[in-house]
Amino acid sequence: MAQLIGGLATSHIPAIGNAIARGQQQEPYWKPFFDGYPPVRQWLGEQRPDVVVVFYNDHGLNFVLDKMPTFAVAAAAQYHNADEGWGIPTTEPVNGDLDLSWHLINHLVAKEFDITTCQEMLVDHACTLPLKLFWPGDCPVTIVPVAINTVQFPLPSAKRVFALGEAVGNAIRSWDSTKKVAVIASGGLSHQLDGERAGFINKAFDLQFMDSLLNEPAWATQFSSLELVEKTGTQGVELLMWLAMRAALGTAPTQPVREVHRNYHIPISNTATGLMALACA
Ligand code: DHB
Ligand code: FE
Repeated sequence: MAQLIGGLATSHIPAIGNAIARGQQQEPYWKPFFDGYPPVRQWLGEQRPDVVVVFYNDHGLNFVLDKMPTFAVAAAAQYHNADEGWGIPTTEPVNGDLDLSWHLINHLVAKEFDITTCQEMLVDHACTLPLKLFWPGDCPVTIVPVAINTVQFPLPSAKRVFALGEAVGNAIRSWDSTKKVAVIASGGLSHQLDGERAGFINKAFDLQFMDSLLNEPAWATQFSSLELVEKTGTQGVELLMWLAMRAALGTAPTQPVREVHRNYHIPISNTATGLMALACA
């Protein structure tokens, strides 16, 4: 069976794409953010996953507001990026893993998740930037994008996202393959880009949330999605991806998780940036 090696969570901000393109990683504004990644890259270099399942939220590149699936699993041989209007360089296509895509889709539908399947999927900065941050050179992994709606209300509950993550983890562990799989969460932490609370950041909540992923993984499921918006901002609710990732690693006593590394830095653009790497021990 496939081996689930761990999970990685990172914020995604379009400006990161420009900073990478301009080689600004060591500039004072960017250094505290980019300095978080080398220890994670080292761990990935040792572990060498073959495939990553990417939990992310599309921001309007693939799903326009007239059609908004709550959960969508992609099954394409290749994923293209395109201009989203942020002015960041379009990234090269990334290869998919069709076998894992269809295994996930079959497993999730059998477990009564009414997902949307996408045999074509444009991937936006939320999917491409984590790959660039974790693997700055050529992307050595294939991907299975799993999109969770956090942009158009109503949003799925934290409890439901946690259940989705658990089911994805069970699917990965039951995949008849010799491949090593990692799970990525893209989004958060607290931020609000517009409206009266634009610039809102909640450091205390973010830090408690990061700790909870180790000490009490389902802690955030006590909150409704609207409560999470209240606590973390309209876009901060993207932290639902982190919950899906953590749930995928498993929470049974037989599924211990070890923290490899974390970083937290405020702000990049309008966002409290978080990074966490968790290994299945
Ligand atoms: C920013 C953050 C996001 O999550 C996003 O999708 C776009 C922009 C920002 O802070 O600029
Ligand atoms: Fe976002």
